[in-house]
Amino acid sequence: MPRSGSSPGAKEAPVARVATNDRPAGRESLTITDNRTGKAYEVPIENGTIKALALRDIKVSPEDFGLMTYDPAFTNTAHCKSRITMIDGDKGILNYRGYPIEQLAEHSTYLEVAYLILNGELPDRRQQEEWVHSITHHTFLHETMKRFIEAFRYDAHPMGIMVSAVAALSTFYKEASNIFDPVGRRSQMVRLIAKMPTLAAFAYRASVGLPFVYPDNDLSYTGNFLNMLFRMAEAKYRPNPVLERALDVLFILHADHEQNCSTLAMRAVGSSHPDPYSAVAAGIAALYGPLHGGANEMVLRMLKEIRSKDCVPEYIQRVKQGQTRLMGFGHRIYKNYDPRARIIKQIADQVFEVTGRNPLLDIALELERIALQDDYFVSRKLYPNVDFYSGLIYQSMGFPVETFPVLFAIPRTSGWLAQWEEMLLDPEQKIARPRQVYAGAPRRDYIQMDERV
Ligand SMILES: CC(C)(COP(=O)(O)OP(=O)(O)OC[C@H]1O[C@@H](n2cnc3c(N)ncnc32)[C@H](O)[C@@H]1OP(=O)(O)O)[C@@H](O)C(=O)NCCC(=O)NCCS
Repeated sequence: MPRSGSSPGAKEAPVARVATNDRPAGRESLTITDNRTGKAYEVPIENGTIKALALRDIKVSPEDFGLMTYDPAFTNTAHCKSRITMIDGDKGILNYRGYPIEQLAEHSTYLEVAYLILNGELPDRRQQEEWVHSITHHTFLHETMKRFIEAFRYDAHPMGIMVSAVAALSTFYKEASNIFDPVGRRSQMVRLIAKMPTLAAFAYRASVGLPFVYPDNDLSYTGNFLNMLFRMAEAKYRPNPVLERALDVLFILHADHEQNCSTLAMRAVGSSHPDPYSAVAAGIAALYGPLHGGANEMVLRMLKEIRSKDCVPEYIQRVKQGQTRLMGFGHRIYKNYDPRARIIKQIADQVFEVTGRNPLLDIALELERIALQDDYFVSRKLYPNVDFYSGLIYQSMGFPVETFPVLFAIPRTSGWLAQWEEMLLDPEQKIARPRQVYAGAPRRDYIQMDERV
């Protein structure tokens, strides 16, 4: 089984040293010599990994707990086996269920990709029609959800509303806690994918004081989302086909990304077996952060702060001095180029033909040009990521900056759900519970208040 991920970045120092031994080469195992005891252990290698629990047998005495790995932020730990998404960060490859992202972005639709991610295969015509029909007919929200959303302060961030609103949905579907009922589980997955755009649009309309627009079943997934966001007094909203398709492709690019921070949150929370609404709420909360899904919002703010192309060199200097980060640059996995960024750059051209060129584009292009030839960025393998250009497209399409992370959360819901279901059905998974290296005070006795100095 190929491993997903990338080799360590150029700046990471090797931890293990090479030692020679006289055993014959070619065995799928690792021999570890414990220099504390002089004992050697042979550990099987499977899929380029060793089982962390194998290290537990390496002890200095029978009472010893045994060795563990120390891996803050899981930078070199495979925490699951997955068949959903494959990334080769060194080569800039991203495949969903084996299909390259470039082909899906060119030929597919978001809903077809969601089906693929959830089911493992592309749908045939009948399956596709049934799937689209069921998503289209689950877009409405219970009327009390409107009051729930209206209860937030007028300037509430839509991601804050999304976290709470999705969690609140679990109270409407009590049967959602039967997560091992395959039919019921699928119903909740359809509901979640169908209702996310409605929740997002309602959160936006509430924040600008506009009346809610109900879903229009004649429109596509993204066409209807644009309708719920932007329809004013017209009897029938007709989305611009270029913008509708651009948004659909952006949704395809954001549908899944293997074991990122929000997927880890979804899997970890899901591993204690709550309903999927509660687990998706955790995924959204993780996505909210500026180092993850909040980055596209931060890119826009950064470009506005830079103000003009001429100020780019000065900003780059500040980044190199460690005063700030270049938002939309760098990735834990991609150490070559984010393949999604390449596709997004093409979409940007199509969108700007309709909306007019975004004036911030010149600053972005100049930042990219300078950064890609600067040793600071080159040596650290820092390239534009998916968020670098997506914010410019969203802004040109009329989305307020605060809604950018929401535009990430909507399509990622299918990825989160596929990962969640895979985790639930994986016999090797249990409740997530990592270990720690305790670095605190040794045992000590309680001190009465008047005896403390
Ligand atoms: C995505 C990100 C969190 C990955 O972080 P990571 O894999 O943990 O990488 P590190 O934070 O260890 O960074 C490695 C080195 O590159 C530098 N670096 C990483 N991203 C940087 C950025 N965007 N701007 C400037 N320097 C950056 C770090 O300062 C560090 O330098 P050092 O070795 O001199 O200390 C990080 O690149 C980042 O913060 N990017 C900006 C936010 C963003 O665009 N997020 C969206 C991701 S899709």
